[in-house]
Formats: sequence, structure tokens, C-alpha cells
Amino acid sequence: MISIDIKNSGSYTVKIGNGLLDTAGDEVKKLGKTRKVCIVTDTHVSALYGQRVRESLESAGFDVFSFIFPFGEQSKNLSVYGRLVEDLCNNRFTRSDLIVALGGGVVGDLAGFAAATFQRGIRYIQVPTTLLAAVDSSVGGKTAVDLTGGKNQVGCFYQPSLVLCDPDTLKTLPDEEYRCGCAEVIKYAILKSRAFYNELMDLPASEQFEHVIATCVEMKRDFVQEDEFDKGVRMFLNLGHSIGHAVEALSGFTTLHGQAVAIGTAAVARAAEKNGFCSTDTLGDILTILEKYGLPTENPYSAKDIIDLMLSDKKLIDGKLSLIVPEEIGKCRIVPVDSGDLGKWVL
Ligand SMILES: NC(=O)c1ccc[n+]([C@@H]2O[C@H](COP(=O)([O-])OP(=O)(O)OC[C@H]3O[C@@H](n4cnc5c(N)ncnc54)[C@H](O)[C@@H]3O)[C@@H](O)[C@H]2O)c1
Repeated sequence: MISIDIKNSGSYTVKIGNGLLDTAGDEVKKLGKTRKVCIVTDTHVSALYGQRVRESLESAGFDVFSFIFPFGEQSKNLSVYGRLVEDLCNNRFTRSDLIVALGGGVVGDLAGFAAATFQRGIRYIQVPTTLLAAVDSSVGGKTAVDLTGGKNQVGCFYQPSLVLCDPDTLKTLPDEEYRCGCAEVIKYAILKSRAFYNELMDLPASEQFEHVIATCVEMKRDFVQEDEFDKGVRMFLNLGHSIGHAVEALSGFTTLHGQAVAIGTAAVARAAEKNGFCSTDTLGDILTILEKYGLPTENPYSAKDIIDLMLSDKKLIDGKLSLIVPEEIGKCRIVPVDSGDLGKWVL
């Protein structure tokens, strides 16, 4: 088992190890005074792991409730959020009780936002079951739900009390979801480490889950400890995301987040090479690893459509968008781009 401590406004530990799912009850007990626990999860994950987590919590003596919603991004909305907090209220949850977010990023974001806002904040733990959630969304305390007008439009920063990651759960992930998680894993390698890039080239992530998750969480820890509220270095984690979010939206969300991030990463790498920020070899390395992991690298949309959407990005500040631009594997740079110059970056 690997333990990584994260020191933010709320400090917590990320525990990574096969079989940890069955320790959920004991782990929650260690967090102190709690009587009731609500497992928040989606229909897929509930069918696979809901019972195991419930049994672990019950045998540790907790009064266990479940809130299960239909899987998928379309559930990350105000109406499901509303039902969840009403449920907590009807079951007389108090500030000493706790939420277990069991699932991928959709569950984590929604349950985290409910935890942050119910009675002005009750504790929650993240139990990520997708690769994306394990390496990214379960760490750092960003919580949110979507509005019809856009993704993650309502949310806040609210740190979990614990992240319990059992890589065994990733074995049941559909191949497409695994690959989407790999897009985020590859992002960390491009941002921070040539050695990690080489490891991912030598051995598939699926054959070294524990190591891969721990490496990514350590990298994310460094960004979020320095910049909890996303005003500085945390922006690096947006590599591939500015164009990626536009691709996701243009596809009507049929292109999955990780696929869109891969397309965005490839697009910004091509522009970086053209604009003299990185070598042709670096561009080649980026495209090679994305393709090796079965991720798309071609942007099917027009530059105009992509730019129109980028201009409504919530990260556009004073008419400038900070693009994360690769210089070499393991090194990227923040480049503030004037909205009028985006054409040079979306080819
Ligand atoms: N908070 C953050 O910092 C942050 C960072 C990145 C992404 N996100 C958010 O995360 C969400 C995407 O997360 P995701 O990719 O995990 O999507 P997801 O939660 O929808 O999970 C993807 C699919 O996999 C299923 N699933 C989950 N675990 C499984 C398992 N072990 N076996 C089989 N099926 C399983 C789910 O039911 C779902 O159908 C987006 O809403 C995005 O905005 C948040």
C-alpha cells in the first residue's frame, strides 16, 4: 500500500493499494466521530462494488445509506444534486456524518459538491473507480455540477478527508474508459517527467496501475499544494484541455473527455512545433504515445468553431487564455494568448 499526504486547507492522505475497498469501514472509523455514512455512487459502480463497500462499512458499525443515480455525465446536474441533499436531510444527516463518493469523476464531483454545501460542509471520502478519477479528479478538491449552459459551472473547492484507491477496481473498466484515463496519465508525463514517459512506453499503464497512480498523484500533489485554488501553477494541469473542452462540446459530448484531451494535447503540440516552442522530435514523441494508447490525435472540427468555444472558456481572463504549451517531454510553459491570436494556436 502506498500513502501520499496532501497538505491543503484540509489535509488528507491518498491510500493506493489492491484490496483497499474492503477496508473502507475501518478507514472511515479512523477519521473519528461518525454514525451515518451515505454511499453516493452510479448504477454501474453500485452493481459492481456497492455491496462490498456497504458490507465493510456495516461491519465497522456504521448506519449505511445509499444514493444511486444513473451513470454518465448527464447526471452531474442540479436536479440529481438536489435529490441527493434532500435525501441527506430526510435521513437526518448531521455535520458529524460522512459521504463516501464511490465511482468515477462524475460521482466524485457531484458527491463532493453535495458534501461541501450540505449544512455548509460535511466530510466526504473519495473512492475512485476509474483511472481518470484515481489520477486526477479524486485529488485536489475541485467539486462541481454542470448547467445546461456548460460543464462544471457551479462548484467549489472542498477537500476530501481521505482518498481510498483500490486499483483492482480498474480491471472492470470498459476499454474506452481505461484509454481516457490514460490520456490524463500521459498528460502528467508530458508535463513533468521523461522517465515516466519512458515507463509508459515500455509497459502499459494497466500492468503497473499502482505505480502509475502513485506517480500521477505525487505530481498532482505538487501542483495543488502550491496552488490550491487554481490561480497559478495548477493551470499546468489544463494541458490539452482548452482545445479538448471545445472538442467535447462540439461533439455533443459523444467524444469522451479523455479522447478530447488527447485531441487537444496533439493539437497544442502541433501548434507548439509550428510556433517554434518545441522540436519536431518532441511533437513526434507526444503523438507516438497518444497513438500507442489508442487515443485519437486528429481534430475533426474547424478552427473557427473551436476558437468560438474557447472564447467562452471560464479560464479566459482579460481577453487572454493561458495555453499550456509543451517545450519538451517533462517540461511545459504557460503561454498567455490574446483572444485575437488564438488562430495561431488552433491550426
Ligand atoms: N474534480 C476534478 O478535478 C476533475 C478532474 C478531471 C475530470 N473531472 C470530471 O470527471 C468526470 C469524468 O470522470 P470519469 O471519466 O471517471 O467518468 P464517469 O464517472 O462517468 O465514469 C465513466 C464510466 O465508467 C463507469 N465506471 C466507473 N468505474 C467503473 C469500474 N471500476 N468498472 C466499470 N465501470 C466503471 C461509470 O459508471 C461510467 O459509466 C467529468 O465530469 C469531469 O468534469 C473532474
